[in-house]
Amino acid sequence: MVDNPFQTPEAQILRTHQAEIVSQHLRDLLTDPSRPRSMTLTAGPLTVDFSRMLGNTTTLELLGSLADALRVPERLKAMVSGEVVNVTEQRAALHTALRADHDAHITVDGADVMPDVTQTADAVSAYVEAVRSGARRGATGERLTDVVVIGIGGSDLGPRMVTAATRSHHTGHVGVHFVANVDPAELDTTLAPLDPASTLVVIISKTFTTVETLANAATARTWLVDSVGETGLTNHVCAVTTAVEAATAFGVPEDAVFGFRDWVGGRYSLSSAVGIGIEFAVGPEGMRSLRQGMRWVDDALLADPWQPNAAVLLGMLDIWYTEYFGATTKAVIPYSQDLALLPSHLQQLQMESNGKSVTADGRPVAWPTSPIVWGAPGTNGQHAFFQLLHQGTTLVPVDLIGVDSIAGSDRANLLQANLLAQAAALALGRTATDLRAAGVSEALIPHKEMPGDRPSTLIWLPDLSPSSVGALVALYEHATAVAGFAWGINPFDQWGVERGKELAGDLLPAVAGGAIPDDTDASTEASLRHLRGS
Ligand code: F6P
Repeated sequence: MVDNPFQTPEAQILRTHQAEIVSQHLRDLLTDPSRPRSMTLTAGPLTVDFSRMLGNTTTLELLGSLADALRVPERLKAMVSGEVVNVTEQRAALHTALRADHDAHITVDGADVMPDVTQTADAVSAYVEAVRSGARRGATGERLTDVVVIGIGGSDLGPRMVTAATRSHHTGHVGVHFVANVDPAELDTTLAPLDPASTLVVIISKTFTTVETLANAATARTWLVDSVGETGLTNHVCAVTTAVEAATAFGVPEDAVFGFRDWVGGRYSLSSAVGIGIEFAVGPEGMRSLRQGMRWVDDALLADPWQPNAAVLLGMLDIWYTEYFGATTKAVIPYSQDLALLPSHLQQLQMESNGKSVTADGRPVAWPTSPIVWGAPGTNGQHAFFQLLHQGTTLVPVDLIGVDSIAGSDRANLLQANLLAQAAALALGRTATDLRAAGVSEALIPHKEMPGDRPSTLIWLPDLSPSSVGALVALYEHATAVAGFAWGINPFDQWGVERGKELAGDLLPAVAGGAIPDDTDASTEASLRHLRGS
């Protein structure tokens, strides 16, 4: 582990390189017809176009060299081999095993994990198929027409996003609904139009201790029991967790509890049984296809001989823009309404992984780590925050996501035209000369000038099939780990979220009307009194 990744010779060479290229404007660089081809890579079915980045092919090579110097390839190899890479929890981070070839052999603690991975995936598929086909029915004999998936964080965001993204590839007739927030509004409005007799409730919680999930699960359980009784409950509940006993104690029948191992991190878990909601929507075949798409990207990660690939470079761009250009945020703009939830998933994936300020061995970092990840679908964002992207005082690197198959109509063409126009406007800007030539009045020129040189990465999916969406998820999973490894932090733990959970438990009695603890801070006490109307 290096003391400071940015004091390595490779980082210094990048610094010198940056000084050499910083004066080159994208509007000049993009006159080179060879640039797009030389700066576009593939990742499974994806095309990743880096040609609008700040820099050039040398930059990409130097970022690859920095990754190499920071032992990123070794860390990636350790990760996919099942070594303990999550050092504070003494766990592996083996999400790649979830979509590995079933004849692969990957060991954790001396045991091959693949038989268990395969058995669980097959059991989930058999269960999903039984429900979708009507072979497995509700207590009254009715088909289960709706599945309500209750979970939060990694037990919700990824599966919810992929289910929405693959809308055009849903098969069967089961409606899949996701509930995460403990605000009664979400579960109550979801259950209101449903019939308990034809509804399956799926509880997803790695720990089976997350209070929001357990509170929602308890409410849903009552809703079911009020209709089908305690004896009928077992036909209407399913669980995905590492805490199998807790799930069976809740009333879930053993053949409907699907486990996964503690080396699957929540935000990296959608290719595990946690993705059961996806599978109810796209079917077992679709789920296999999702995992295949992920595997294609996994396989490119450590090609031999190793060379920087799209996932590695995407992760290293976070380093490039945060460390060398001072960017503090990154926008993700999918030009696809079906991918509208991608930014939310990436917020957890990247900010819960890399929003850290100590290295994996506990030393304070002296460099910036994860940028703030945010975004919204295009073209909507153009009417919300693109003004800042074009003329604001803050450099915001943008990941643009395009989908080839969105075509065949005027509206689709309009979407794609806007995608390309925004990428161009960000890069090229608009000079005073351009504006004068267009007859813009002198008074307006300073207001209409656009600096340009605003970088973007354009990631193309061929379509929104499970395999393409899976590849996109894996691309970002690996980019996240790469950035974390390069920053020298542990991308797989999340100690920062624990304290809030504890405080919520401490405050719950007071919120419910009980005594306000003496050691309550003044603002919390005032807020509690506000809630009490006093
Ligand atoms: O946000 C904290 C966290 O632990 C996430 O890492 C996790 O995905 C989420 O809560 C839900 O945890 P569980 O799956 O154990 O309910």
